[in-house]
Amino acid sequence: MSLFFRLLMIFVDIESVEIRPLIRYNFGMDEIKEFQEALLNWYRKSGRVLPWRSDPSPYKVWISEIMLQQTRVDTVIPYFNRFISEIPTIKDLAETDDEKLYKLWQGLGYYRRASHLKKAAQIMVDQYNGRLPENFNDLLTLPGIGAYTAGAILSIAFNISIPAVDGNVFRIIARINAETGDIQKASVKKRLEACVKELIPSTDAGDFNQALMDLGANICIPNGIPKCEECPVKNFCKAYSEGLAYTLPVKGNKAVRKTQEITVLKILRDNRLALRKREEKGLLSNLWELPNYQSFLTEEQCIKILQNNGFKVTSIMPMERVKHAFSHMDWIMIGYLITVEGNEDLSSWTWVTREEILNVYSIPSAFLPFLSV
Ligand code: ADE
Repeated sequence: MSLFFRLLMIFVDIESVEIRPLIRYNFGMDEIKEFQEALLNWYRKSGRVLPWRSDPSPYKVWISEIMLQQTRVDTVIPYFNRFISEIPTIKDLAETDDEKLYKLWQGLGYYRRASHLKKAAQIMVDQYNGRLPENFNDLLTLPGIGAYTAGAILSIAFNISIPAVDGNVFRIIARINAETGDIQKASVKKRLEACVKELIPSTDAGDFNQALMDLGANICIPNGIPKCEECPVKNFCKAYSEGLAYTLPVKGNKAVRKTQEITVLKILRDNRLALRKREEKGLLSNLWELPNYQSFLTEEQCIKILQNNGFKVTSIMPMERVKHAFSHMDWIMIGYLITVEGNEDLSSWTWVTREEILNVYSIPSAFLPFLSV
């Protein structure tokens, strides 16, 4: 075997060995009880007051969990309140018009969540008497519901003892155990999940899971220095006692994000704005957008596109560059404010008034910076 391969094998071997000098994962029964009590008492005194918590009906819990999948609590609150007052039941949701649904979702992003909600509501009406199913496997078959959301719904709405483990919970439990393995590795996740299963109480699972969510949001925070002195379970935390809370968890290399360069056209004719409907498949499907093109185009190239489509350009002005982050990539957008004349029209474009933009058309957040200028 060549020296190169021998060195490679040594390297691979070292990489695959985890060094875990501080790990605990050995809670006794009494300790588990004390941990649960400390966390639950703190939650009942200091947990966040949120609209879906005051009346945790299965419908409200489901809607809130879907909204919270990719969006911060502060942003979700007004959307949740509006959604529940406009669409108060599963049956209403199953019958809601798409334009209304997307309008209620405008600005929340990840619009597929909205279409999944409606599809899931239709399945509930057809197969579950218009209710949410009360078990994990049935919930998982519904569009938009994964293990975390199913766990959250079952524990919060039905008080079934089942964990809801996301990145926040992995971080907390990794710190509690001073886990030095990479929390993105399957083997480490498995250990951490097993630990949550041990810690979750047989009653009050909903409060327990929500307490972990609040702990992760306000105390055991991901970026910056965790507020260990305020933590209700610091006495159980190995990372705290070893001075490692700031260093842990270990998180592997993040993938490099893709970017796309896009030119957005804000085109006005007789005080109406050109909108175009996106395709039925893919990113932001079925939503309305400002006409846009791949790559950064010059003023001359934009004028040419419009002239080729029969319009006369009467003015064109560059707009501020904007970056919009999706979950998997960034759009870097330049824009032009353009006024046109001419009777020619593109069937794919719709000319809308300011009123209609505000009240009827659902336009994804990526384009909103160009609308407000
Ligand atoms: N994030 C996800 N679900 C949540 C909930 N029920 N409360 C607060 N934050 C959450």
